[in-house]
Amino acid sequence: MTVVTPLSLQQCIPDVELAALSETIEKIERLKKERNAIVLAHNYMTPDIYHTVADIKGDSLALAHAAAETDADVIVFAGVHFMAETAKITCPEKTVLIPDLDAGCSLAESITAADIRLLRERYPGVPVVAYVNTSAEVKAEVDICCTSGNAVQVVESLDVDRVIFLPDQYLGRWVATQTDTEIILWEGSCMVHELFTGAELREYRQSHDGVEIIAHPECPPDVLAEADFVGSTAGMIGWVKDNKPKKVVMVTECSMSDNVALETPDVEFVRPCNLCPHMKKITLEKIATSLETMNHEVVIAPEMAEKARRSVDAMLKIAV
Ligand code: 13P
Ligand code: SF4
Repeated sequence: MTVVTPLSLQQCIPDVELAALSETIEKIERLKKERNAIVLAHNYMTPDIYHTVADIKGDSLALAHAAAETDADVIVFAGVHFMAETAKITCPEKTVLIPDLDAGCSLAESITAADIRLLRERYPGVPVVAYVNTSAEVKAEVDICCTSGNAVQVVESLDVDRVIFLPDQYLGRWVATQTDTEIILWEGSCMVHELFTGAELREYRQSHDGVEIIAHPECPPDVLAEADFVGSTAGMIGWVKDNKPKKVVMVTECSMSDNVALETPDVEFVRPCNLCPHMKKITLEKIATSLETMNHEVVIAPEMAEKARRSVDAMLKIAV
């Protein structure tokens, strides 16, 4: 988890937009105080959100921990719907807001609770591990959740010969290369990361002398085979800050390079730009409106939330 030290607005917002956005940022800060609210922001938010109004920023795992630990009454989730649901699952007594209800995820949409019940019939007794990029109804049916930051540790914590891993086939395939546990896959994929190709990465190596390539494990295997490091979004940021490469390409959603570039001015970023259309639905304006109107509140049926909490809590207990 990273507690935010805001950069100056001039560093992350073009001058022409500064005046208009400053007003919105001030409004958000005032409403946060009035409502005892915090903004949790995923690493894929645009710099105007990430470097200004975000109180805590991080990957899915850090944000799930942060939601479980905060004293705030209201959490505004600057991320996608499954992340806001995870926050609500971990702290049902708090009000969790998502600024745009359409901020979904192609992985979460690829599987339903009914699919899990069918998998259990087909593979009786085999534990089911769900990536957090799933709906609350799916989390309620599985044994344990994981994120890209702890997937290998979660699978190994079960101490069994094989597990069902869903919904991301590529994260599942990557986990399979890191463990002796047999992984039964679901064929879901991320619409952003599946666009990268190994050939594209080889071109970056040829055209940018000495470039380091770091990739998110939602990428296909031929992409990961070209990478110097594979990790969650927080893992990738940590890698750049620790290793301070001269040149790097972050093979993931493109706002992350913009965010890290502002914090690491000595590193040159080669920037392929694959945007997540869901993450980009969240804007400063919508965060302000969300705090003003207290919309859209994330609501999960209590029985389902209770069942989903078991699989999220089981994950949060695993130290990484
Ligand atoms: P992280 O948990 O690595 O932040 O990934 C979440 C995600 O949705 C990546 O596409
Ligand atoms: Fe989902 Fe992919 Fe967007 Fe992450 S980048 S929220 S996995 S669609």
